[in-house]
Amino acid sequence: MSMDSRADQSDVHALQEQILELEKRALDELNSVRDLSRLEDLRIAYLGKKGLLTSIMKQLGNLAPEERPIVGRVANRVKSSLLEALEKAKERISSAEEPELEALDVTLPGREPPRGHLHPITQVQGEICKIFGRMGFRVVDGPDVELDYYNFEALNIPKDHPARDMQDTFYISENIVLRTHTSPMEVRVMEKQTPPVSIIAPGKVYRRDSDVSHTPMFHQVEGLLVDKGVTFGDLKGTLTSFVHQMFGRETGMRFRPSFFPFTEPSVELDIRCVICGGTGCRTCSFTGWIEILGAGMTDPEVYRFVGYDPEIYSGFAFGMGIERVTMLKHGIDDIQLFFKNDMRFSMQF
Ligand code: DAH
Repeated sequence: MSMDSRADQSDVHALQEQILELEKRALDELNSVRDLSRLEDLRIAYLGKKGLLTSIMKQLGNLAPEERPIVGRVANRVKSSLLEALEKAKERISSAEEPELEALDVTLPGREPPRGHLHPITQVQGEICKIFGRMGFRVVDGPDVELDYYNFEALNIPKDHPARDMQDTFYISENIVLRTHTSPMEVRVMEKQTPPVSIIAPGKVYRRDSDVSHTPMFHQVEGLLVDKGVTFGDLKGTLTSFVHQMFGRETGMRFRPSFFPFTEPSVELDIRCVICGGTGCRTCSFTGWIEILGAGMTDPEVYRFVGYDPEIYSGFAFGMGIERVTMLKHGIDDIQLFFKNDMRFSMQF
């Protein structure tokens, strides 16, 4: 009997030890758990139907009736201590999560992804094409790497002409250049088409030049019109309409005699300086006028290269720098800004 009683006593003792050991481990875990799903795992592991504490409590039935309440009290106390710790952990985790929830205001509009837009040169090029498009000019495109023949020869620019100077032209080989202007497109179009012809050709051109008003690559738009009975008056009318649409009806303009090998007579078109209004400033070199394009009646020599009969047909041509037009339109005084890719500049247009 005494032996039995001692064995029972040690059983009771071991079970109590086991419960207290479990309490200690469970509290450690409950106090350090950081998220609710892990907390639920712990609840199931200790207090669930098959949980550790639950299965210990099931063993109470094996004890002698007088011992059950002793161990039972311990087990119940541990159970409520774990339930309490569980509740506290739940509060702790929820309150830690709350500030993050508050920081997210779901009523705010979404963040807009950064969106680009067309380069100012592209925008103005489009505007130029639209204006001439309305007057019946068709837009054509051609190569940047050009034959000497189209860039010079067929435009009546002989071998010894200063425009061929190495200072101006990028040569790829003896007969191939980076086009120095868009005028070769005149020849390319006339070669393939009989009059009437009315085209504009926008694109990149290249010259060995670089300062505040020159870049080695820039853009031009070429215009060409050929038909029976075309006069210098048609040229003036067309370009006047263009200036009015691009810079405004009130813009002062003048045609000034000039020279180009592929036109006769030749002119340059000036507009009143948009910066100073004509009183004189740095931009217009204190003349009050700014040149925006070269033009003229196509020289019969050029028609000879493409097989047009100058006794039947006549026409005009013009060529303008898009950077120049854009600078005047927006009051920009440094051409290099177009090619620096500085967003603070580009985003203003
Ligand atoms: N190609 C000339 C240049 O780059 C501009 C030019 C002048 C074009 C007269 C023309 C023209 O079509 O008729 O300076």
